Amino acid sequence: MENEVKLAAGAMVALAVATAALVILPYIQVRDIHAPEGLKPYTSAELRGREVYIANGCVYCHTQQPRDRNLGPDAERGWGRASVPGDYIYDKPHLLGSMRTGPDLFNIGARQPSQDWHLGHLYQPRAYVPGSIMPSYPYMFDVKPEAEEGDVVLKLPPGAAPNGRVVVARPEALDLVRYLRGLNHTYPVLPPQPRGEAAPAAAPPPAGAASSADAKAS
Ligand code: HEC
Repeated sequence: MENEVKLAAGAMVALAVATAALVILPYIQVRDIHAPEGLKPYTSAELRGREVYIANGCVYCHTQQPRDRNLGPDAERGWGRASVPGDYIYDKPHLLGSMRTGPDLFNIGARQPSQDWHLGHLYQPRAYVPGSIMPSYPYMFDVKPEAEEGDVVLKLPPGAAPNGRVVVARPEALDLVRYLRGLNHTYPVLPPQPRGEAAPAAAPPPAGAASSADAKAS
């Protein structure tokens, strides 16, 4: 019997340690994180575009996490400042990614704001970047003899458009491009406050400026 008690107690301790390390500590680390001032929540169209991004596996080739200068030359590549936890506050699920077959896209909206470029690049990456190994996504577009009212017609480079017909973006392509163009985290963020150091707001008031708390105490 004694051994069973030891076994059960050991299992409980292991579970408690694991829960503390994997659930409680991370929760304490991220619970006070707020959205940076410059970050806007996604619009409905951008959220639909995000679903298209997930469904088509863009995350398998593209990250959304520029690294700190000490860890890699991401800033020199023009991918922007290192991301901070608050940048991801509206991301469910997050799309950090771990493979960089293509460039990091965290700030693609700032780097490439053109809707025409994005649509054309999704239809045929090699029309824009010769030798690109990014797949084309023809099923996000319709090829028709002529455009109808309300159609968004692609302005493709010469040679990329099918002869005598027009390429029209389907709603999923338009939503995806809205999402991509919205990926812009170039707003400034303050470095995180070091632990244990008083925040400026909590600093003692300047001499002579008696606060109401002082008045009560005296
Ligand atoms: C097999 C890997 C792969 C997949 C999957 C992939 N890409 Fe790419 N992507 C690349 C590569 C490589 C490049 C660089 C060459 C180029 O621009 O075509 C690139 C470039 C890009 C660029 C231009 C980046 C820049 O900095 O100029 C965008 C935007 C982009 N991809 C979006 C997407 C989206 C959206 C999807 C999903 C629908 C996707 N990619 C899927 C490999 C991939």
